[in-house]
Amino acid sequence: MSEPLRYYYRNRVHEVRDVAPTRSLLQHLREDLHCCGTKEGCAEGDCGACTVVIAELQDGQLQMKSVNSCLQFLPTLDGKAIFTVEDMQDGAQLHPVQQAMVECHGSQCGFCTPGFVMSLWDLYLKRESATGALPRAQIDVALSGNLCRCTGYRPIIDAARRMEDLPRAAFDRAALQQILQTLQRPQALHYAHQGRHFFAPRTLAELLALRRDYPAALLLAGGTDVALWVTKQLRELGDLIYLGRVSELLAMREQDGMLEIGAAVSLDDAYRALCRHYPQQLGELWQRFASLPIRHAGTLGGNLANGSPIGDSMPWLIALGARLVLQGGAGQRVLALEDFYRGYQKKDLRADEIVAAVRIPLPQPQRIFRTYKLAKRYDQDISAVCAAFSATLKDGVLHQVRIAFGGMAATPQRAAQAEAALEGQPWNEAALAAGMTALAQDYAPLSDMRASAGYRMQVAQNLLRRYWLETRPDAPLPAAAVNVFARGEA
Ligand SMILES: Cc1cc2nc3c(=O)[nH]c(=O)nc-3n(C[C@H](O)[C@H](O)[C@H](O)COP(=O)(O)OP(=O)(O)OC[C@H]3O[C@@H](n4cnc5c(N)ncnc54)[C@H](O)[C@@H]3O)c2cc1C
Ligand code: FES
Ligand code: FES
Repeated sequence: MSEPLRYYYRNRVHEVRDVAPTRSLLQHLREDLHCCGTKEGCAEGDCGACTVVIAELQDGQLQMKSVNSCLQFLPTLDGKAIFTVEDMQDGAQLHPVQQAMVECHGSQCGFCTPGFVMSLWDLYLKRESATGALPRAQIDVALSGNLCRCTGYRPIIDAARRMEDLPRAAFDRAALQQILQTLQRPQALHYAHQGRHFFAPRTLAELLALRRDYPAALLLAGGTDVALWVTKQLRELGDLIYLGRVSELLAMREQDGMLEIGAAVSLDDAYRALCRHYPQQLGELWQRFASLPIRHAGTLGGNLANGSPIGDSMPWLIALGARLVLQGGAGQRVLALEDFYRGYQKKDLRADEIVAAVRIPLPQPQRIFRTYKLAKRYDQDISAVCAAFSATLKDGVLHQVRIAFGGMAATPQRAAQAEAALEGQPWNEAALAAGMTALAQDYAPLSDMRASAGYRMQVAQNLLRRYWLETRPDAPLPAAAVNVFARGEA
């Protein structure tokens, strides 16, 4: 007998027994609960019309974050609380976020408005104990996943500032924390519907046992890739094993000069931790990786396990020499990240294994490292080319050169010829020219809707030049002077 799913919404606990494991939160809100404030624009995480805020306990601490409800499968909400635009108004009283939108004329047709309001509410909550004016950079990050076709963004940005001037609306975190505590399960969730199973193990041991017993089940982390297989490709996914509750996969720790990040840590938490060590090098990529709601839901482990040739995390992790920790019934394997990718959508992952963590070297003296993302838009766009360069510069000579690209081959791939051309060379124009020439031997990129093969090769070579301009020993440009798009931390 299946257990019901339990979540908290609009002042009460809901129990659900009769929905498919892949029913999205958006469908559930609109079609089952008839709460139609939350809108569907794209059903693929791009428009933000479906943005809601989720509250959950992690290590007993309350976490609240905006997510795209079109990409959340309902069983992943078990034990959590959901907030939608319906929660904002208090009787006849608009919430300050809504009041600010009205006063600043932040809405016209209104289709995008509930999503903007929820993204702004997420920001409003984060600003609870903040002092000083709200920086523009934080507004941009908060709204990076919301599109508006008619109002334009200036009035909405004005509303973000205005909401802070209005009398503050109280939010009782302690009460919510207590409610969530009552919803926590001591054991793994097993939900079943019409022969399809959804498991949410809480420990690595439970996860590995399920992997052994249900070898055909699909691993589900943040669902920002997997949910699209349902909403866009209309695929039936069968049984699912959810990783978002496995305590070992949610851990981060520093040890032996490495930062180890568990596979189920969210992209936003992972990049925040990484940017404490590599603020100049990874700060821009962090903000340009998808949008804030996608980074709140998606995981670093999912990004690496999916292994898209245009994924943003692999090139720089490979350039830094990161290692992947795989865990299976027979124990643990640790391998260099580049060895994980065996061909287009082929990985060195056995049927009983999972990606458990990634180990990332911390900065070392004389190590010069940069990564660059090229896409058609600044926010919320997949890379056409993503490049990463790392080397030790000692007495003006390059050693341990590691170069990796996304968007140039069927997998994220190192540039062996360019590395060889630069290794042991003085870091000067001649070495740069040799490296740029060698890059053309490393890759034969494709033309597609994001970029032509010729463009890809040209920018790959130009990015090597940019690396040189930023790191050359004689007159290095400070990164801030080169990074014309830099916006500061969220
Ligand atoms: C609107 C939008 C914008 C995006 N923009 C970007 C972008 O700018 N850059 C970018 O790189 N990506 C982008 N993505 C892709 C996506 O967000 C990332 O690939 C994300 O990191 C996937 O993580 P997830 O937790 O959501 O994985 P899921 O969707 O849950 O899983 C992805 C795949 O990995 C497998 N998997 C997950 N975790 C594990 C594990 N621990 N062990 C083994 N297998 C596992 C799953 O079975 C599945 O096959 C975007 C996606 C969307 C929808
Ligand atoms: S409907 Fe567009 S992001 Fe969800
Ligand atoms: S108000 Fe019409 S899409 Fe934003």
